[in-house]
Amino acid sequence: MTSSARLTDRTAFITGASSGIGAAIAERYLSEGANVVAVDLDPTGVNALAARHPDRVLALRADVTDETSMTEAVNAGTRRFGPFHVVVANAGAGTYGLIREHDTADWKRIIDLCLVGVFITLKTTADHTADGGSVITISSLNAIQPSAGMSAYCAAKAGVAMLTRVAAMEMGARGIRVNTIAPGLVNTNATAGMFAVPEVVRQFEENASLGRHASPEEVASVAAFLASDDSSYMSASFVSVDGGGNTGRYPTLPAIFSAL
Ligand SMILES: NC(=O)c1ccc[n+]([C@@H]2O[C@H](COP(=O)([O-])OP(=O)(O)OC[C@H]3O[C@@H](n4cnc5c(N)ncnc54)[C@H](O)[C@@H]3O)[C@@H](O)[C@H]2O)c1
Repeated sequence: MTSSARLTDRTAFITGASSGIGAAIAERYLSEGANVVAVDLDPTGVNALAARHPDRVLALRADVTDETSMTEAVNAGTRRFGPFHVVVANAGAGTYGLIREHDTADWKRIIDLCLVGVFITLKTTADHTADGGSVITISSLNAIQPSAGMSAYCAAKAGVAMLTRVAAMEMGARGIRVNTIAPGLVNTNATAGMFAVPEVVRQFEENASLGRHASPEEVASVAAFLASDDSSYMSASFVSVDGGGNTGRYPTLPAIFSAL
């Protein structure tokens, strides 16, 4: 809980808000006074959030890879709360596989979710975002730091980082700022597989300047800063929230996994 209320009378549209980083961002925005349109393919978490905040949360099931589904969610959100002041394109997931043996359909699935899903989120919300608003994408440390075995995810996240900068150019004339947050290792459902292997976490933490991983709330606090007027002259920025992980190297996943 924070003492500031920088988002009072604003509405935030957040994808992937049922769990992890997206859920933490939704909670943080609510604590700062925002109304939240909370979108997820798995509505369990967003429904629970709406049950706790019925006046300020609209929970919607939608698939970021499906433009029709997202258009319906955007329309439902604006019907309830009006135009969005903040959009957070957060939904995403990873996969593992060396390039020479990676199933192509699985590779395309990650590009579709992590990159095309962000494009569809930006596209469907663009005309429903208030002038002067803030758009935030969630990319990753892996947008700039490669990891063997994570080609689809790394390529998608690097794409998100550049897509964010293009969107900043296209939306700047309306005073809309577009920035990306690049988290390092965060303890969420998405990384449960990594946290099940202590050596992965050990190597990540050894390579991070701060010597530890992050909580979802530590990403959410930066997302609140970027949503607020406190970041009024930031656009097209790549905001690392990785404890200095970008100074090191990613855990050597193939060696670690083959030793299991
Ligand atoms: N956890 C980390 O270490 C980490 C690090 C860097 C970046 N990220 C990024 O942060 C974002 C959030 O990840 P997380 O760690 O909170 O994971 P998470 O699994 O806890 O949350 C992701 C949410 O996205 C939802 N989702 C999945 N596919 C969807 C779809 N097609 N449409 C709508 N919603 C969908 C899931 O149901 C889930 O609620 C992702 O983009 C991820 O790549 C995470």
